[in-house]
Amino acid sequence: MKLGNDLMLAKQCLEMGNLVAIPTETVYGLAANGLDADAVLRIFEAKKRPSFNPLILHVASIEKAKLLVSDFPPLAEILAQAFWPGPLTLVLPKAPQVPDTVTAGQDTVAIRMPSHPLTLALLNMLDFPLAAPSANPSGYISPTTAGHVAEQLGEQLCYILDGGACNVGLESTILKIEHDKAILLRAGGLEVERIEALTGEVAVFQSSEILAPGMLQSHYAPHKQVVVGDISANIPLYPLAEILVLGFQQAHPSIAPNRQLVLSPKGDLHEAARNVFSYLRQLDSMEGKVILAEWVPDIGLGRAINDRLKRAAADR
Ligand code: TXA
Ligand code: MG
Repeated sequence: MKLGNDLMLAKQCLEMGNLVAIPTETVYGLAANGLDADAVLRIFEAKKRPSFNPLILHVASIEKAKLLVSDFPPLAEILAQAFWPGPLTLVLPKAPQVPDTVTAGQDTVAIRMPSHPLTLALLNMLDFPLAAPSANPSGYISPTTAGHVAEQLGEQLCYILDGGACNVGLESTILKIEHDKAILLRAGGLEVERIEALTGEVAVFQSSEILAPGMLQSHYAPHKQVVVGDISANIPLYPLAEILVLGFQQAHPSIAPNRQLVLSPKGDLHEAARNVFSYLRQLDSMEGKVILAEWVPDIGLGRAINDRLKRAAADR
């Protein structure tokens, strides 16, 4: 398996237009040269991602981000200074050299500076940004370890840069910046409350238009059925032998302990965020047919966790 921490090898793969999985603090990314339209197309093929779903460009500095946009308003500067490197993506008017394959033909581009040291080191060795969606087949749960990536996409990658388990565990928070206004496109690994402490209230994007397929109803979905809500109320609705449980703080007394996972016994939303995707994967690989999950407190990272649970449970 071509998996390790060889930055030179990762660089060579990328310079040849090939795909490399990269660790970030949020989830693993499936990266290619973000200025090479052919390389970017390989990302879409490997993930079976619909071509209308734009990608995030990853950079190692605010200066590099500015080269990819036609405008970097003061609000973007404030947010980038405060939260980069970190789990925040900014959507801004794109510069002409950003290929249409990256932006799916839109006139905006999504950019972030990830905080994982290996990926920052790699970005500093390259003279182009990395386009990278989460390194999972389109629609499935995002990967939070190199092993998750290897299982599903290993064959299609030139290299997997192994940076251990992701610290945050949920994708970045996405903000669209329109002049002096920030609009939340996706709740994620940076708490909206921390953004609002700087910017004042952030509007939440609401439209039936699919701007970001992370916003598609069904996404982040295991193969098994997922039902979110009151676990006690849902248990009688399914044959016991088919039930698996994803609890927040506690296991459910009427289900066998080996058929349950608990996100954070101490009720810590950061710990729950770190665990949610890998626990969904584990449950998906266990014997059973339905995963009964419960909502977590809808504050801080809980908003993003609940969003992912809701999408995992959506009809397909
Ligand atoms: O944490 C993350 O954001 C991870 C790591 C790898 O950086 N990446 C990630 O990428 O989650 P992906 O492709 O799974 O999700 C990116 C989201 C998609 O929902 C996409 O539609 C949205 O960003 N997006 C990208 N460009 C956009 C744009 N110009 N306008 C609106 N949404 C955009
Ligand atoms: Mg994704």
